[in-house]
This record gives sequence, C-alpha cells and structure tokens, in this order.
Amino acid sequence: MPNIIIVGTQWGDEGKGKLIDILSQKSDYIVRFQGGNNAGHTVIVDGKQFIFHIIPSGILHKSKICVIANGVVVDPEVLLREIKGLNNKGIDIKGRLKISTLCHIIFPYHKILDKLRERKRAQKIGTTGRGIGPCYADKISRCGIRMIDLIRPEVFRSKLEDNIKEKNSIFRNVYNHAGFPFKSVFKDYLRYAAELRPYVSNTVDLLNRAIDDGKSLLFEGAQGVYLDIDFGTYPYVTSSSTIAGGVFPGSGVSPLVIDKVVGVAKSYTTRVGQGPFPSEFNPKFSDFIRKKGNEFGATTGRPRRCGWFDVLMVKEAVRINRISELALMKLDVLDSLKKIKVCTAYKYKGKVFKEYPHDPEVIKNGSCIWREYPGWSDPTCSILKYSGLPKNARNYIKILQDLVCAEIFMVSVGSSRKQVIYLD
Ligand code: GDP
Ligand code: IMO
Ligand code: MG
Repeated sequence: MPNIIIVGTQWGDEGKGKLIDILSQKSDYIVRFQGGNNAGHTVIVDGKQFIFHIIPSGILHKSKICVIANGVVVDPEVLLREIKGLNNKGIDIKGRLKISTLCHIIFPYHKILDKLRERKRAQKIGTTGRGIGPCYADKISRCGIRMIDLIRPEVFRSKLEDNIKEKNSIFRNVYNHAGFPFKSVFKDYLRYAAELRPYVSNTVDLLNRAIDDGKSLLFEGAQGVYLDIDFGTYPYVTSSSTIAGGVFPGSGVSPLVIDKVVGVAKSYTTRVGQGPFPSEFNPKFSDFIRKKGNEFGATTGRPRRCGWFDVLMVKEAVRINRISELALMKLDVLDSLKKIKVCTAYKYKGKVFKEYPHDPEVIKNGSCIWREYPGWSDPTCSILKYSGLPKNARNYIKILQDLVCAEIFMVSVGSSRKQVIYLD
C-alpha cells in the first residue's frame, strides 16, 4: 500500500472520516497533520457512530498506529475525553496512539479569545470557538507552549506564567474580561500532562523509521481546500494549511515519500459558518437537502449550508493538490431529484470565469453559470456495483469526472462502511 494523503476538496465535512476508515485497512500508520478539534470526522461501524475530533479516524482498526503529528494543535481536555470515550466503548488504544512532542497546546485563554474576537467582529467568521486560530497565532508569534514543555513542570511553569501575564493584560484592557488565574490553569494542565505522558513521543523519528521499514502511511487531512489559510475563502477560513502540502511541515516527512493524493468531494456542496458560497441553494431547498443528507455539523451541531456541486472549486482543488483520485460521497442524497444542477463557471460584471478566481469580489458577488442534468428516481443506498447504478447517476459521475479532471475511483451511497461502489 502506498503512502497517501487524503484532502477535502470543498469546505470540509466531505466524508473524509468514512474514507479514511476504509483506507486505513490497508495502511499501517494513520496521521493527522494539521487542525485541531474544530474537525469532526464521522465513522459508522455496525450501526455505531464514532465522531473523531483529534484522534485519527483509523483508530477503530485494531493493529494500526495513529499519530497526532506536530502540525496539530491539541486541546488536552478534549483529547483525554476522546481517549476515555474509546476506552469506554472497549477500543484498546494502548501503544497505538502517538502524540508528537512538538504539538502546540490549546489553553483556556485561546478558547475564550476565539469567542471574544468573534463577538467583536463586524464580519463574523463562524469559528467553532475551539481556540484553534489563537493557538496557531501563538505558535507563529513564538510564544506557544508545546507538548514537550507541558510534560516538564518547571519549563511549563515559566512559559505559562509569561503567557498568562501577557494575556491577562490584553483580556482586561481590550476585552473587559477578568483574565485567568495562573494557579488553577497550571494545576489542571499538570494533571492533563500526567495523563497524556504515556502517549507522547518523537513522532518525526517514528514516521521516518516506519517509511524506512517499508510501512505505509495515510495522512488524514482535516477541513478542506476552501478553509485553507492561503487558498481558502479568506478570512472565512481556518488557521492551518489544509492542502496536501501541509503534510510536510505538519509531520516531518519528505514530499518524496508520497505516492498519491486522494481527494474527497461531496456530490453537492456544504459549508458551516460564514463566508461566500456561490452555488448555495435557496433556503427552502437547502432545508430539504439538509434533512435528507443530515447536514448538521459533527463538531458544533450547527446546520450546514447546502448548495450544488461547484466544478470550479473542485477542479482547482485537484490542481493545487495534484489529486489523482477522487472519492465522490453522498450520492444517495441526490436520489429522487428530478434535475441536478452543477456550477461550471462564475459570471461577474459581464465577465465569465471558467477557472476558480482568487478575487474575493468575484466569489462573493458573482453568479453561477449552470448546467442541468436529469436526476434518477431509484434509491442507490443498497447498490454495490457501478453497473447497478441508475443510468443518470452513472452519467452524473462521468460528467463530474470529466469536468474536474480527476478520476473518480469510488462512490459512496450511505454512511456505513459497506455502502461504497468502486469504479473500474
Ligand atoms: P468529514 O469531516 O469530512 O469526515 O465529514 P463529517 O463526518 O463531518 O460529515 C459527513 C457526514 O456524512 C457524516 O455524518 C457521515 O456519516 C455521512 N456520510 C458519509 N458518506 C456518506 C454517504 O455516502 N451517504 C450519506 N447519506 N451519508 C454519508
Ligand atoms: P472537518 O475536518 C467544516 C470552519 C468553521 C468556520 C471556519 C473557522 O470536519 O471537515 P475555526 O474553528 O477553525 O476557527 O473555524 O472553519 N470549519 C469547518 N467546517 N468542517 C470542518 O472540519 C471545519 N473546521 C473548521 O465552521 O467557518
Ligand atoms: Mg466534519
């Protein structure tokens, strides 16, 4: 099995968790390399639902090693809760979960700052409020606290003192907030450190040794290309590199070891939070598809905004990531629609854009140029073979494949592991 990177090609929630769970069967290591517990990856096995926020979605496969690499920002309280949740469900993770010494740690002041900033903003981002942005900001400002600091009490004390002093002054003066008592934060985090200590290791060494030994690695992207800090719909994005390129600074492996990049796209489009959405449905149809596709955030429970498939977005995602293979998810949600629309270009001030424009004005104020295809009436959720799909569903898959310039290798027709159709 080759070394693979999985990336979301839209605004997240494409169904990455399900695909990673499936591909994990043939991988030895499953690695998260960016983001934090803003992610929510759903895996459904034998009718049981698991939602992973930080732990890689491959953890349900007994013999696999799951790595939270250095590019991830870790909220220890949430991670410990997730570990306990797995233990309670009888899933043994001992020796299989590895957390990088170099991960940056999310503190209460990050979470509160995330929310206070959002409240003050005229144009809200729709952050999950998990402290992801402020934690990455501290990382880049070189005042962050890492896992290696957390597990060394004296180093941790001094770094936390510095941070709380500075942050409290900002909280009091800018946000009229009381700030944080050093003692209780220090005490809580020492407890978390003691509990996490057995999982912490040099994951750069671990992963590179695995590569030397011929093991196969699966890199689990969180979010999607249009939430990427550089290529997303800035500022309505998250604070990390969600594209395939994020794997390298986020894990310490070389680009030369990657064999392929697999993209994940929904058969339509969704978005949680604020920001432009050119192919968005009208509110009534959005409600209809939201109910049909159960489009509610796996992290915050917020209703997801829904729209038609946007070719420009996925095609650009294919290009930026050099996606060779694409998994098309949630095809079943489009069952029984009379007509299916696809956005193939934007029009803005009389000009037609056939490639994804990086001008926010066009994305915000442009309109979609549509193509319309006939839908299918038969349900697809129990179909196992491509040839068994309704003709118009096969037609839709082939059309998307041609339009986005990537091979669709798999189509998903339900949330369970078994509901997948492989294309020849
Ligand atoms: P992720 O963040 O990309 O892992 O995606 P989420 O887990 O946040 O959201 C995807 C949702 O769609 C989850 O509830 C999945 O169980 C569900 N899902 C995945 N694939 C399919 C599919 O083919 N059909 C249907 N109906 N649901 C799916
Ligand atoms: P997965 O991995 C969908 C969105 C938030 C918000 C913006 C910034 O499950 O696909 P942040 O908390 O990072 O400050 O939020 O990004 N967002 C996601 N939307 N899926 C996700 O992850 C997301 N992670 C962040 O809704 O609009
Ligand atoms: Mg999700």
